[in-house]
Amino acid sequence: MIGDQPVEVLLQELAADIAREAGALARERRAAGVALAATKSTLADIVTEADREVEDLIRARLTAERPGDGFLGEESGAAQSTTGVTWVVDPIDGTVNYAYGIPMYSVSIAAVEGGSDPDTWQPLAAAVCAPAIGELFTASHGGGAWLGDRRLAVTTETPAGALLATGFGYDPSTHDGDLATVRRVMPLARDLRRGGSAAIDLAYVAAGRLDGYFERGLNPWDFAAGALLVTEAGGRLSRFDTTSSRPMVVAAGPALHERLSDLLHKEV
Ligand code: IPD
Ligand code: CA
Repeated sequence: MIGDQPVEVLLQELAADIAREAGALARERRAAGVALAATKSTLADIVTEADREVEDLIRARLTAERPGDGFLGEESGAAQSTTGVTWVVDPIDGTVNYAYGIPMYSVSIAAVEGGSDPDTWQPLAAAVCAPAIGELFTASHGGGAWLGDRRLAVTTETPAGALLATGFGYDPSTHDGDLATVRRVMPLARDLRRGGSAAIDLAYVAAGRLDGYFERGLNPWDFAAGALLVTEAGGRLSRFDTTSSRPMVVAAGPALHERLSDLLHKEV
């Protein structure tokens, strides 16, 4: 507790403020025209000038407000924590959407305790801001997941089948395997979406706009904030094959999570 507020709630408020500010900057830069800065792991994996500028803003704001906290971001180097809290940040999740002018992009900010390994950290607070859609999703550990002032809850299963979402990595050599996975889960699905921002996909599972989501090869900053949104909305998020180069993330309400995980674990 700090004053009469749990520390998780204060971190949630800070994450929300910074995500809102960072989202506004991303949106402004998008309106002014996007400049490609570089390609990363493959030709399809791009970073824009705005990704870097937005991460710099988030990092500067966090350093000013919480000196000593650790940092793990997509575009800049990691910093060790001296307080036990680490911020896990994706300045623009959905960069390809951003570059093409598709509004499904987000700023994703999470505070975690216990280091920068997703297998051992405990999520404390999260904010996912989709500035071009005008939505801000937040959560704190034990305090629920929220879209503005609306408390979120995952869906329960319906006989029509699940509305699922997934994503594909940037490496073309992995596409065949990912498509085989899609074929495997389709018997559970009423339909499938590929939105282009993992953080928004997870926020939508939390909000009941999607029933479930799965994807291989995510980085920690893609799912850190979204994971807390899902669990605080009553859902489950798990990872498996965590020692492989492309671990699988599965998120859904408890019953669907179990059925999806069973199916995905049987992958060859
Ligand atoms: C990507 C998005 C996308 C997912 C990729 C991620 P980026 O993040 O979340 O939906 O399918 O796996 O890398 O590169 O836009 O920050
Ligand atoms: Ca990302």
